[in-house]
Amino acid sequence: MYVCICNAVSDRTIREAAAQGVDTLEALTCATGCGACCGSCRGLATQVLEQARAELDFAFAPAAA
Ligand code: FES
Repeated sequence: MYVCICNAVSDRTIREAAAQGVDTLEALTCATGCGACCGSCRGLATQVLEQARAELDFAFAPAAA
């Protein structure tokens, strides 16, 4: 789904950016343009980015002994 209509940035693009190390909305805006126009997507973009980061942290967390 599109998160940022102004710049055609999808949730998939945000997840890919997170996997590349993007960890703040400002960095996401620089990398994709998400949130750079009207700004109405910034809340949802932050949620998607934070969830993607959390999933990455979980995926790479050491297994419990
Ligand atoms: S919807 Fe993202 S800047 Fe407008």
